[in-house]
Amino acid sequence: MYEMDHNFIPVNTRVENLLGCMNLQEKVAQMIQIPYSKVSKKEALDWAKRGAGSFLHVLGDNARELQKVAIESRLGIPIIFGIDAIHGHGLNENATIFPSQLAAACSWNRELVEAMAQATACEVATDGLHWTFSPVLCLGRDTRWGRIDETFGEDQYLAGELGASMIRGYQGESLDSDESILACAKHYIGYGEAVGGRDSCDTEITLRKMREVFLPPFEKAIKAGCATIMCAYGSIDGTPVTANEKVLRHILRDELGFDGFIVTDWDNVNNLVTLQHVAADIRDASRMAAIAGNDMIMTSSEFYAVTIKLVEDGLLDEKVINEAVRNILRIKYRMGLFEKPYKKGRPGCIGCMEHLELNKKLARESIVLLKNNDILPLEKNISSIAVIGPNADNIRAQYGDWTYFTHPDPNPEQMPIKPYLTVLEGMYELAKENGISIEYQHGCEIMHGSEVDFEAAVSAARKCDVIVLVLGDMIDQTGEAKDRADLALSRVQVELFERLRNLNKPLVTVLVASKPLCIDSIAKDTDALIVAFNGGMFGGLAVAETIFGKLNPSGRLPISFPRHSGQLPVYYNGLSGWHGGKYMDLPAAPLFVFGEGKSYTSFAYSNLRFKEKSLSVTVDVSNTGKVDGLETVQIYFRDCVSSVMTPYKQLIAFEKVNLKVKETRRVSFTFNRSDFSLVTPGENRVTEPGEFILMVGSSSYDDDLLQIKFVL
Ligand code: BGC
Repeated sequence: MYEMDHNFIPVNTRVENLLGCMNLQEKVAQMIQIPYSKVSKKEALDWAKRGAGSFLHVLGDNARELQKVAIESRLGIPIIFGIDAIHGHGLNENATIFPSQLAAACSWNRELVEAMAQATACEVATDGLHWTFSPVLCLGRDTRWGRIDETFGEDQYLAGELGASMIRGYQGESLDSDESILACAKHYIGYGEAVGGRDSCDTEITLRKMREVFLPPFEKAIKAGCATIMCAYGSIDGTPVTANEKVLRHILRDELGFDGFIVTDWDNVNNLVTLQHVAADIRDASRMAAIAGNDMIMTSSEFYAVTIKLVEDGLLDEKVINEAVRNILRIKYRMGLFEKPYKKGRPGCIGCMEHLELNKKLARESIVLLKNNDILPLEKNISSIAVIGPNADNIRAQYGDWTYFTHPDPNPEQMPIKPYLTVLEGMYELAKENGISIEYQHGCEIMHGSEVDFEAAVSAARKCDVIVLVLGDMIDQTGEAKDRADLALSRVQVELFERLRNLNKPLVTVLVASKPLCIDSIAKDTDALIVAFNGGMFGGLAVAETIFGKLNPSGRLPISFPRHSGQLPVYYNGLSGWHGGKYMDLPAAPLFVFGEGKSYTSFAYSNLRFKEKSLSVTVDVSNTGKVDGLETVQIYFRDCVSSVMTPYKQLIAFEKVNLKVKETRRVSFTFNRSDFSLVTPGENRVTEPGEFILMVGSSSYDDDLLQIKFVL
C-alpha cells in the first residue's frame, strides 16, 4: 500500500511521486468512472480493487464499502464519488429539495444561490460523497430543449454570475473541508444550443460565437476555482466536443489555465462510434477522447482495456495518460482525499431546519409576478377561494427534475417525503390564518383529455370569491431527451381556464412549470399571473404567501416567454436584422422579456451618471409605492459601432436592493474596459474604442431603462 501522509510536501510533488509508482493499468483505471446502478455488485467491487478513479450514483454505505476496497488495494488511491445533486441532494429522499436552477435564477440573488449550494454540499458530504455534477452553465436560449429547467436561463452574464456563486458554495473555502464538495461546470460547451432544441444534436455555432456567448460562464467558473468540468454530448459545427482538442485542451487548459479535471458526459466515448460516427470503433474513439483532453471517462468502461492496448502497441503516447491522471490526482490531493477518504459532512444536516429555512427564502425570491390587475394581494374581505388545476397539488411538478422520483432512475411509485407544501397546502395554511375557506378541484390532467372534471371545477369556482388556477407542465415533459416541439399549454388546460374565465370572477393564474410555456391568451385574459417554475419543497408556500400579500414578489425572469413556439428562439440579446426581424403573423417581441417581474410596490430611477475616467455609474433607485420591496437594478450596454455585430443590449451588471417605503438608495457599479469587449472573427477578445450606451433600469424593456452615452 502506498503511504505518503506528508502534508507539507507540495501537491505536485505528491502527484509525481504517486504517478511514478503506478503501472499502466492503474493509471488508466484512474480515468474510469463507473455508474454504480449499471453494474453488478461484484463488478463494482472489482473495479474498486482495480483502481477505478470514480463512481457515480452510489450513496451511503455502498460508497463506503467501495472506498474501503480502494484504500486497501495496492496503491490505496481513494475513489471520488459523484452525484447529480443539482438543486439540493435530490437523489436522497430525506434531503432538502431546493428550487430548480431556473427557478433559483429568478431570484437574481448571488448570496442565496451560493447558500443553497453550500447547504447542498453539506448534505452530499454527509452522505459520504465528494462531487456534484453541477452547476449547469448551458444557456437556455432554445426553450424547446428539455433541460431548460437545469439552466440559469438565457443570458451568459447572469448564468456566469450565479454559476460562480454556486461553485463557491459547493467548494467552500477549501476543497478539503468536511462540508465542501467538488463542483462540476457543465456541459462544456454548447449543449443547450443544439439545432432545433433537440438534445445532443449538433450546434451551428462558430468558434467566434462560442467564445462570445457560451464561453464566458465557463471562464467565470474557472476563475471561481471550479475543480471539474463536464464535456458536452453534442458537437460544435460538426466536431463532437468529446473529440475536440481545440475546445478541450487548447481553450480550457492552455488559454484559460483550467487545472482541474475534465469528465466526459454519460458514454460520450462510445457515442463517438455509435451516434456521431467519427470513430470506427471503441479503440479509435478512446484514442480520440484521450488526445482531445478528456481526463475521466464516464461509463464507457471499454476505454480501459483498449487504451492499455493502444499504449502498449505504441498507438497512444503514455504521456497523454500521465497528463490525465495527474489532473485527477491533483484534485484528489487538493481535496485531502488521501488523508480523509470518507467525507464526514455535518451529521444531522440532511433536511435540517436551517436548510429548510434557507430553502423557503430562495423559494420566495424565485416567485415572478408577471401581471396584476390590482387584484393581488387579495383583499382582506374575501371569504372563500377556489383553488383549481392539475398543478395545484402536484409535488412532482413542483420539485421538477433530478429528485428521487424522477431522474436518472424514474420512480413514479415513490411517495414524496414531508416537509413540503404544494400550492394547495400553502393556500390552506394561509387561508386558515385569515379565516377563509378553500374549495379545491383538480379540474383536469396536464396532458390527457380523460379525467377531466370541468363541471366540478366550475361549480366550486362559482361558490367562491376568487379563483386561483394552477397550470403548467409535468415531469414527463421535463428533462433529458424530453424536448418539445410545441410549448403551448395543453389544450385541456386552456379549456379549463376559459370555462373559469367565463364566470367573470377575479382569476389568478399560477404557472408551475419547468420552462416558459406559450400562454399568450391566458396572459391576456387572466387578472394576475404568477410564475413559480419548479419551486422545490416550499414553492407552493411562496405562491400562497404572494397571493395573500405576506410576501412582496421580487423575482425577475432569467428567460423570455415566447408567444408561440414558432417564435423560438426568442432571447433578448439576439442580433438585429433587416426588415425589423419580425414575422408576418406574429410580433417579434416575446410575451414577457428577460429581466421582467412586478412588485406590489413601484420603483423609480433617477440621476443616472457615468464617470468616464473611472468607468463607474451611479443611479438613484427609490421605492415610490406603499410597501417595502426588493428591486433588481439591471445594467445593459450597447457598443454603438463595432467591427462585428453586437447585441442591441447585453446585461453587464445587476444588484438586488432592499428598499423601504419612500427610501432612495444610490447604487453604483464600476466596470473594466474588458467588460465592453467583443470577439473578433480571428477569435480575439478586444474592446474597441468608440461610443457606448449604458442602460439602467428594472427590466430589459427599453421603456424600463434610462440611458447614458459614453466614449471609450
Ligand atoms: C447528463 C449529465 C449528468 C450525467 C450523470 C448525463 O446524461 O447529461 O448532466 O450529470 O448524465 O447522471
